[in-house]
Amino acid sequence: FYVDKGNHRHFMQKEIYEQPEVIGHTLGSFVDMTTGRTRVPNGQSLDFKDIKRMAISACGTGYLAGLTGRYYFERHARIACDIDVASEFRYRESPLGDVDLALFVSQSGETADTLASLRYAKSMGLKTASVVNVQESTIARESDVVLPTLAGPEIGVASTKAFTCQLMALAALSIRAGVDRGVISPDEELAMTRALAEGPRMVAEAFKLEGQIEILARELATYRHALYLGRGLSYPLALEGALKLKEISYIHAEGYAAGELKHGPIALIDETMPVIVVAPHDRMFEKTVSNMQEVAARGGRIILITDEKGARAGAVSAMETLILPDMPEILTPIAFAVPLQMLAYHTAVHMGTDVDQPRNLAKSVTVE
Ligand code: G6P
Repeated sequence: FYVDKGNHRHFMQKEIYEQPEVIGHTLGSFVDMTTGRTRVPNGQSLDFKDIKRMAISACGTGYLAGLTGRYYFERHARIACDIDVASEFRYRESPLGDVDLALFVSQSGETADTLASLRYAKSMGLKTASVVNVQESTIARESDVVLPTLAGPEIGVASTKAFTCQLMALAALSIRAGVDRGVISPDEELAMTRALAEGPRMVAEAFKLEGQIEILARELATYRHALYLGRGLSYPLALEGALKLKEISYIHAEGYAAGELKHGPIALIDETMPVIVVAPHDRMFEKTVSNMQEVAARGGRIILITDEKGARAGAVSAMETLILPDMPEILTPIAFAVPLQMLAYHTAVHMGTDVDQPRNLAKSVTVE
């Protein structure tokens, strides 16, 4: 097939801009948009009623979607989730006796380690389900249940729209699971799917930050290292923000749970260390603010990504604050991913790297 960049300079930028549309499509296969009720796509049977423990595995960005999925499934459906990178899951010799479902996340559906994990789970007699973007892929064919993301072909090596579609699929599915397990009432289901339906608009709102991010990226491009911090639902995003930056700009970046700052990375903080903090105004916000104060006191340059409430509350001297609208918590991983993608993108553009085909990386890794 042939996909072109349209008016965009790179596929990555085009794919960032496709997100409102493709996350909306993806939501539509997990939620009947006329009734607001969740469903398992394509009439497949997957009842979460008796699922108490799940094992999630994936690689790269898919792994970070899975890590977010764990927060969703544990909170919305009270399903305990193990989460592993696929290359570890297979060899960990974890007792899988009480795992009721093995869940995989893959854009390409061909990643060797994820495929091997799927085959391993099947050989252990587990039921398998996969969130996959390429419906004709090996992982889609070999899974008991296929949970499609409708991101369309993703060309940029650094995953963007596939990631937010994976988050959308996992969020919607966790609501379905919560309903099946009697954790979520029918009224709550409607409120939550209505919240998810706001996703495309919130992502579009995030695009308004692009001018500010472009200028900020010029500065970020002058640093050699960067640290990303987040708590709760924003912790996987901190990892994803750092992954995006290192993949395409080659600036060394690390993501950390904000609460772990004092157990190591704080030793690195000085005026040469930009610290990107992902902090919507959720119930962990105040804790993250105190982490930011620790960074500020040591001269670290803070880039705060927050919402309007957070911007009003956060008494911290940030070098720059990127402000998204206030939104339901379930949406924050999806909308807050966008400024992180744009920050990595524009930093890489400034540095003149090959954004769509970064050195040493492959779109789909079919060797172990
Ligand atoms: C490669 C790509 C990443 C991707 C990972 C997993 O490393 O560069 O963008 O997240 O593989 O790929 P998958 O297709 O299984 O999601």
